[in-house]
Amino acid sequence: MSPWTITVLLVVLGGLWSLAAHLQDASRARQGDHHRLPPGPRGLPILGNLLMLGDFPHHTFRQLAKKYGPIMYIRLGLVRTMVVSSPQVAKLFLNTHDLVFASRPYNMVMHIIAYGNKGIAFSPYGPYWRNVRKLCTIQLLSAAKVDSLKHMRKEEVGLFVRLLKDHSGVVVDVSAKVGSLIEDMTYWLLIGSKVDRFNLKPVVQEAFILIGAFNLADYIPCLGSFDLQGLTRRMKAIGKVFDEFLEKIIDEHIQDAKNRQNNHKDDFIDVMLLLMKESQNATDEQGYMIDRTNIKAIILDILVAAMDTSIVTVEWALSELLRHPKVLEKLQEELRDKVGMDRVVEEEDLVKLNYLDMVVKEVMRLHPVAPLLAPRESMEDITINGYHIPKKSRVIINAWAIQRDPIVWSDNAEEFLPERFIDNNNIDIRRRDYQFIPFGSGRRGCPGIHLGLVVVKLVLAQMVHCFDWELPNGMSPDDLDMTEKFGLTVARASHLLAIPTYRL
Ligand code: HEM
Repeated sequence: MSPWTITVLLVVLGGLWSLAAHLQDASRARQGDHHRLPPGPRGLPILGNLLMLGDFPHHTFRQLAKKYGPIMYIRLGLVRTMVVSSPQVAKLFLNTHDLVFASRPYNMVMHIIAYGNKGIAFSPYGPYWRNVRKLCTIQLLSAAKVDSLKHMRKEEVGLFVRLLKDHSGVVVDVSAKVGSLIEDMTYWLLIGSKVDRFNLKPVVQEAFILIGAFNLADYIPCLGSFDLQGLTRRMKAIGKVFDEFLEKIIDEHIQDAKNRQNNHKDDFIDVMLLLMKESQNATDEQGYMIDRTNIKAIILDILVAAMDTSIVTVEWALSELLRHPKVLEKLQEELRDKVGMDRVVEEEDLVKLNYLDMVVKEVMRLHPVAPLLAPRESMEDITINGYHIPKKSRVIINAWAIQRDPIVWSDNAEEFLPERFIDNNNIDIRRRDYQFIPFGSGRRGCPGIHLGLVVVKLVLAQMVHCFDWELPNGMSPDDLDMTEKFGLTVARASHLLAIPTYRL
């Protein structure tokens, strides 16, 4: 059979499947409450509602939710999808019935580059994910482990300040500079050195593009083998580069450990190699063991989960401060009072910087880096708020819409106003308040919150304490372009340019 015949056949089969799903959904809708799907817009055969998403799906979903309500049903290709848009309903999915929604849907990119999804962030719920997540939370992301690497962050931030000082009074590409700093910090954390010698940065950028790309194969799986968008070919190419790099790095770490006199273990790979050695003879009750492939997959996953999130948050934070000079001034006052003008900010200072905490929260409220969190998948049929949610439905939580909901945040929800957190200081960034969920929540919530917040606050505090900032070419704060770019994370569409002037 020619490839063309196979394509036609698969498209026809997909069409029939989609029609059958459509008729089944319609018949469920007519049945009693028991099988009623949530309301939602009508979709096309095969494509479902894919064409409605537009450039900013989080904006589109908010508009649609105004008509269809806080649990909405759409079909993305052949995938049944529930979109959640209120804190009350988010709580039902992320807390009350968290276990049912603790899995992730299949993701082709991560399947290809992360060794059959052996990382954490995209792997399905099960003993493997539970073990790997526990391992990372305890061994790699605990407060003690994060604190033990503060000397590295201090050194990197020191270099960054010196670099900006050399550019005092001239226009700087803030996005690129902050990106470079946080990339270096992440590599230090994971592999114990910077990666310039491997020239990995363009490959990581390509990985971000591919993971953020809208891959038809995830929604209409029968099209996967045709690689219509050319994504699979690109994924395989970067998967190969990553693999060669990770193999080299692991070999170097093993060699290094042999040569080392003391037993000092520092970066993620060191810790995992130690665990691999320990687990070689002893498997745990689920028959789970760490091997080289697991280490490579986890490193890749953490790289993806950790790097862009912190970079994008700092970028939005400085953008908002440039648009709100009074807030910037107030933050500088706090730093002057609590840190003083004769030294830089240290990590120990962060706990006493209350206004900085409010500013960061407000940035994360208006600009959650993952506005739709990461998709979940239901593991069994369940009824929520009277609606039937079939097994294997994809669940999208629109954190962006929830965090801008005027019913929750009042009429000024669209304004950047850190002071709102003075009255709402009981709002907890760590999971319990479903009106504010920039790190997600529940079993699949972000395990890197502590590290993420330390990095974001330290970098931002340093930039604001050491420098005054102004926009280039006399641009007025209101003219700063705040357009978003939707992808793996939602970053600024254009790089942030600004002029630092050293002030310490
Ligand atoms: C400002 C920084 C960060 C933000 C805003 C952020 C946000 C998020 C969000 C929204 C999710 C999805 C949660 C859900 O589905 O409920 C997530 C998952 C995750 N994050 Fe973060 N993150 C940040 C930093 C980090 C760092 C520094 C690390 C690790 C070094 C990390 C590791 C992970 C992992 C492994 C997952 C997947 C968890 C799982 O599926 O079990 N994140 N993060």
